Formats: sequence, C-alpha cells, structure tokens
Amino acid sequence: MENLISLVNKLQRACTALGDHGEESALPTLWDSLPAIAVVGGQSSGKSSVLESVVGKDFLPRGSGIVTRRPLVLQLHRIDGDREYAEFMHLPRKRFTDFSLVRKEIADETDRETGRSKQISSVPIHLSIYSPYVVNLTLIDLPGLTKVAIEGQPDSIVQDIENMVRSFIEKPNCIILAVSPANQDLATSDAIKISREVDPKGERTFGVLTKIDLMDKGTDAVDILEGRSYRLQQPWVGVVNRSQQDINKNVDMIAARHRERDYFSTTPEYKHLAQRMGSEHLAKMLSKHLESVIKSRIPGLQSLITKTIAELETELNRLGKPIATDAGGKLYTIMEICRMFDGIYKEHLEGVRSGGEKI
Ligand code: GDP
Ligand code: NA
Ligand code: MG
Repeated sequence: MENLISLVNKLQRACTALGDHGEESALPTLWDSLPAIAVVGGQSSGKSSVLESVVGKDFLPRGSGIVTRRPLVLQLHRIDGDREYAEFMHLPRKRFTDFSLVRKEIADETDRETGRSKQISSVPIHLSIYSPYVVNLTLIDLPGLTKVAIEGQPDSIVQDIENMVRSFIEKPNCIILAVSPANQDLATSDAIKISREVDPKGERTFGVLTKIDLMDKGTDAVDILEGRSYRLQQPWVGVVNRSQQDINKNVDMIAARHRERDYFSTTPEYKHLAQRMGSEHLAKMLSKHLESVIKSRIPGLQSLITKTIAELETELNRLGKPIATDAGGKLYTIMEICRMFDGIYKEHLEGVRSGGEKI
C-alpha cells in the first residue's frame, strides 16, 4: 500500500509539472481526484506548528500576521538510510539539506509571486521532503482565516483567503485537518465553521486541538477530545506544540515530541486518552486514513487513468517520436506512472479474486 501512496504522490507532481499542457485532457480531473490533506484554521491557531510536528522538522516561515500567503503542497516521502533533504518543484536540480534555507526559500518564493505586498496568491508552492523519519503523506498548508485586514492589505483579503481555503476543501477528495486552539471557545473556531460548511456530516474532517497546555486553570479539553462538544466521524486529536518561547530558545522538535508525550501521559485528565493524543499519533493516523481513502478510490482513479493513458498516447503520437520537447518528456513520465498504477491495480484485483488482500 505504501507503494500506492508514493505512486499517487508521483502522479500529483507529474500532473502539476505538466501545467497547462493537460488542460484539454483528463489530467486536471485526475489531479482533483487524488486525495490530499489540507490544513485549515484561524491565524495563529497553530497550523504551521502542527505541520512541523507531523514532519518532525523546523522548516516553515513564522511570524505574526499573514505569513502563509500561498498554498504549500507538501509531499512527505519515506526513504531508507539516514539522509534527509528537501526539493522544490520550481528548483528541480537543487537539494536542500539545511532546513532553515527551506524556510527562506518558501518566504522568497511567496514574495516572487505576490511581489512583497501582503497579497495572497492561490498558486501553490510544491515542496517534497525525503526522510526516513516521515510517513508518506501529502499535506497542503493554507493561509490562515482572518477576521480583519491589517495595515497595507486590501479589505478584500479576508474574503479572498476564505474563498481560497474553500476552493481546496470543498473537493470531495480533500481530507480536512481542522485546527482549533483549546484556549478559545470552540464555538468561535474558524476551522470548524468553514469545515462544517463543506462537510456537514464531519465525514472527512479531522479535528485537531492545539494549545491544550494554555487552557485556563481548572478547565480541560476532555469533552472536546471525547467528541461530545463537536461530533466528527473521526476521533479528535489533541496536541501540545512548542510555545513561542520554546521556538525562541530553539527547543528541538524531538525534545518537543517527548515533552508532548509526557504531558498527555502524566496529566490526570488526559491519561486515559494518551494513546491517541499527540503529533506522532496524528501523523500515523493520517497516513493510515489516506491509504484507506486511496484504496477506496482505486476503481474511480483507475478508469480516469485508463482514459489518461489513452489520451497521452494520442498526444505522444501527434508530437511524433523521438520526443524531443520538454512537454513530450513530461507526458511520457506521466504515462509511465499511470502504467505503474495500472499494474498495481491489476495485481490488487488478482489478489482479491484469489481470495487474498494484496493492497
Ligand atoms: P498558525 O498561524 O496557525 O500557523 O500558527 P503557528 O503554528 O505559527 O503558531 C502561532 C503561535 O502559537 C506560535 O507562537 C506557536 O509557538 C504557538 N503555539 C502553537 N501551538 C501551540 C501549543 O500547542 N502550545 C503552546 N504553548 N503554544 C503553541
Ligand atoms: Na481557529
Ligand atoms: Mg502559519
């Protein structure tokens, strides 16, 4: 199954790399049909912190105000060995091993598109992280929902951000990671408000509760975490991320994970929930969920892929061989990936037919 997630990852990248070229084919539909996980929530609710904890690395720009101004499509690839590196799609030949440079490149690439104004853009930045410490996942970081524009921003920004977030999470294949801070009333959560709009039954929304350590003394989050405050089909997960002071003091992610684990297993209110709390658990649960979603979508994806292969063959024939153009090369890559997918699918069918589960 891990195979299948990484194939879907490859398909996602290949479809995007192809850009405009696929506009009249099944490719855009194929891209929309590939499941991904989008992170939504209000400004400073802890979205970037949750993403970094899931990855186990510091690499996202931070600061006050609207820092995330373009969607970041983050693909995590689990690899063997002990190397860890990152690659941006817009810098195909460059490998980043210093993650503070990854952070800088995200900020610079955001500015390149939005021209240093505090504008937002819906053109995604694509980043891949290769590491033995990650689970295979595709996560999309989106600008935080906000209630007021700040100095230098047009008033329309509030609505623009909401529309952009909605355009990602309204797709039925989008899994929503709805981030709400525990030190604010859940009834006022931007994450819950917008996810309820597009997923009223809570079938594809995961509730993540941050800042549990910052709740008022004498209050706790047990009602939320046990699903009594706001019901979702999926269990709620509570996390304790690094505080601003931890970040300033450079507390590393691994130490923070240990501290988070200790927090849940030693706090009397949460002890009984400790097994299903924390960012490590969240990462594993999401990866497992993504697998099962992909698995359930295989038949639909398969027919799209068959259609895509047919279209790509026609297109390649039209371009003629040998394929010298860049577009031709990319089409070829996509077709190869589609064929691999096809192969895995057929193996899966045979497995089902002979009574065993292959995938
Ligand atoms: P974003 O705007 O939603 O991406 O939020 P950030 O991840 O940048 O977090 C905003 C601020 O809240 C930062 O200073 C974080 O250190 C802090 N923060 C996030 N999660 C937690 C948490 O669980 N506990 C504590 N104490 N601080 C947190
Ligand atoms: Na929120
Ligand atoms: Mg952020």
